Amino acid sequence: MKATAIANTNIALIKYWGKRDETLFLPMNSSLSITLDSFFTVTTVEFSKSFYKDIFFLNELQATDKESNKAFNFLNKVREFAGTNLHARISSENRVPTAAGFASSASGFAALAAAATRALGLQLSEKELSMIARQGSGSACRSIYGGFVEWQKGIRTDGKDSFAKQILNEKAWDISVLSVLLAAEQKKVSSTEGMKRTVETSPFYTGWLNTVEKDLEEAKEAINSRDFEKLGIIVEANTMKMHATMLGAKPPILYWQRGTIDVIQHIHKLRSAGIYVYFTIDAGPNVKVLCLPEDEKIVYESLLSLKDVQDVIICHPGSGIKYFE
Ligand code: DP6
Repeated sequence: MKATAIANTNIALIKYWGKRDETLFLPMNSSLSITLDSFFTVTTVEFSKSFYKDIFFLNELQATDKESNKAFNFLNKVREFAGTNLHARISSENRVPTAAGFASSASGFAALAAAATRALGLQLSEKELSMIARQGSGSACRSIYGGFVEWQKGIRTDGKDSFAKQILNEKAWDISVLSVLLAAEQKKVSSTEGMKRTVETSPFYTGWLNTVEKDLEEAKEAINSRDFEKLGIIVEANTMKMHATMLGAKPPILYWQRGTIDVIQHIHKLRSAGIYVYFTIDAGPNVKVLCLPEDEKIVYESLLSLKDVQDVIICHPGSGIKYFE
């Protein structure tokens, strides 16, 4: 009873920020992402009657208690779904091209959901798998699919209508996503905690909820018509709006560091020089830069010349879940 799955991570273009149910990981708003080809997690899960407890190895070392508990809690949900009480051995590798900064819960829980359910012999549709992965980390439900992916928030209290679906496959539209790794400290407030605090305390959060579904519709129109400029403008505005909601939280949350602002201003400069280039930022200091493949080289080189930039990794739309038999 053993299976291995590989999942790419994803970057949100329209962000998921806020939960309406913390146990089922149900979001306040729908979101949209691109699955990336350069960052992924490979996970093997084995269930056996001879295991007397769960064990989790991450990058060949035994995972910390915090990491293990998250993974085992998730396994409990999978076990409940499958009707089994077998224990498991998980071995997971985060393949990232540089040393630090880009490990992601999205690829981690997508790969774990896929490997664990396959190891238990469940034959799930992508939609069902997306609903399970969502309960490990919300953004993981989007990594089941390749290319451009929408996570529909759903309205049911049991979560049965909250899952991701593909809008365009990874071959349908090539755009470049440059991941900018900054010389910055690791984030102190997790996404889970950051969104909870924002929902509970930020007076700006209603502004987010009142406008984010319209942002999503505009982004989908831009994707369907392959209008890069329209997409870039809405993606950048949505990022800024999400970070603005956090600045209004109590106590306020600021993920940006000096290098983050340098990159933002640099993108504005490149745009004034006539290049179609836009940024997006998740719950951390690092920036992801979107541009057209023909401008990739010039944008890459100019980003590397910035003082606080440690590395830039070029990504393109990547595929959904894959299994090794
Ligand atoms: C800013 O999916 O990491 O990256 O569901 O609590 O595990 P949990 O949060 P997570 O949050 C992602 C937040 C974001 C935006 C996004 O990916 O949509």
